[in-house]
Amino acid sequence: MTISFPGAQPLTPPELLTPPSGAGRPRLTFLGTGYLGATYAICFAEMGYEVLGFDVDEPKIAKLASGEVPFHEPGLDELLRKNLAHGRLRFTTSYDEVAEFGDVHFICVGTPQRADGLAADLTYVESSVTGLASRLTRKALIVGKSTVPVGTAEWVEEIIGRHAPAEAEVEVAWSPEFLQEGFAVEDVLRPNRIIFGVKSDWAYGMLYASHKGVFDLAQTEDREVPIVVADFATAELVKVAANAFLATKISFINAMAEVCEAAGADVTQLARAIGYDPRIGNRFLRAGLGFGGACLPKDIRAFQARAQELGVGEALRFLHEVDLINQRRRQRVVQLAAELLDRPNGPAGPDLSGLRIAVLGATFKPNSDDVRDSPALSVVRKLHRTGASVAVYDPEGMSNAERELPEVGFAKTLTDAVAGADLVCVLTEWEEFRNADPSALAELVNGKRVIDGRNCLDQSVWVRAGWDYRGMGRPEPM
Ligand code: UDX
Repeated sequence: MTISFPGAQPLTPPELLTPPSGAGRPRLTFLGTGYLGATYAICFAEMGYEVLGFDVDEPKIAKLASGEVPFHEPGLDELLRKNLAHGRLRFTTSYDEVAEFGDVHFICVGTPQRADGLAADLTYVESSVTGLASRLTRKALIVGKSTVPVGTAEWVEEIIGRHAPAEAEVEVAWSPEFLQEGFAVEDVLRPNRIIFGVKSDWAYGMLYASHKGVFDLAQTEDREVPIVVADFATAELVKVAANAFLATKISFINAMAEVCEAAGADVTQLARAIGYDPRIGNRFLRAGLGFGGACLPKDIRAFQARAQELGVGEALRFLHEVDLINQRRRQRVVQLAAELLDRPNGPAGPDLSGLRIAVLGATFKPNSDDVRDSPALSVVRKLHRTGASVAVYDPEGMSNAERELPEVGFAKTLTDAVAGADLVCVLTEWEEFRNADPSALAELVNGKRVIDGRNCLDQSVWVRAGWDYRGMGRPEPM
């Protein structure tokens, strides 16, 4: 097992401590049962821990308690039902119950972008820590998992100091998560690294015991899970630095796509060619509509706001460019639509009235029902504003998308969406769209024009089927 510690001395795994509750293994609670907390609660129960999930949202807790995952994540429903049936996993809306039950409490609440600027809104972190701390009667470890501005862990310690009884000696740790939607179960059970931000041996020991299930699973599969033990500030920064790097990598290739468009080059070939260099690597180098979702966009903004507060705003000024490149890709689709449909691009954008556009994809990426900051929906909004009649179809994201954009049209199936369309835009790379038969679709549309917003279609097959194809950062096919 590889463990690195701030002092650079490799650590041996700590002695397994007896948890304050006296149970054999620490009892775990997860506060906030959104995407992060629910997935963690379910997966840690699967690893054999006794787990209690908490949320202030009663309908959400009722759903989870009845065996229904409130969002789409492959494999999670089955694990939820299995662990509920086993009795290891329960859900509650009572802070008292959480305080009474748990040894290690994971804070998994959301930290959305504030309405008044780029910074993160810490309201839910504050209310969950306050709600819990004031009910604690014995020693416990409160572990932050939410993505937060650096300095939050120290602030959480202060809140606990004000609300928890001093004799309980409640401690704080920070352990960021890196789960990707669509792969969340794998990412929790088989993480590629674990970060422990701690101040004491006890906190380290409790965190280690709380993750022993992860290490044991790795051992049975002959894998290593590296642990990085760090101070609070470093642990908090790891998460935002990782997301800033990923966002930068995507915007880098999308910037190359802009250059390719001007120079008549093909960014998909360029990405393949540079990705063979192991120092660069080919992952997260897919040019297209850019990044969205609940994490990358808001995290790079909150990171800039925090750097500004710390007096080092200049160090992260490039993240502003990363954001702008990302936004420009969305506008590019509207430009391409106007070109393909032969409508001039006026000062208020193109006028596409009287035309019918099928949009395939609403979620921010495939295998998810999440439409938060979805590039696809942002393009739908822009296309709607051009006066075009838009019909959206998505395999999993329809109800979330309809709630977000009630003013646009939605189709029940792929074929309903494309029927009579003058233009088809593929904006999320779902397998259903990648595998669609362009010859069959050609029979249904009014005009065989397609924009491949994710460079996910086989260009030559579509062209052979008679389609006028446009990709992102790719020349017009001959
Ligand atoms: C991300 C991080 O990957 C994860 O580690 C962190 O914990 C949370 O944020 P997620 O939001 O689930 O996870 O999505 P991810 O798979 O990273 O994709 C983010 C966005 O980037 C998507 O909109 C995706 O379509 C886009 N993307 C990704 C690209 O445009 N090109 C790529 O090459 C990769």
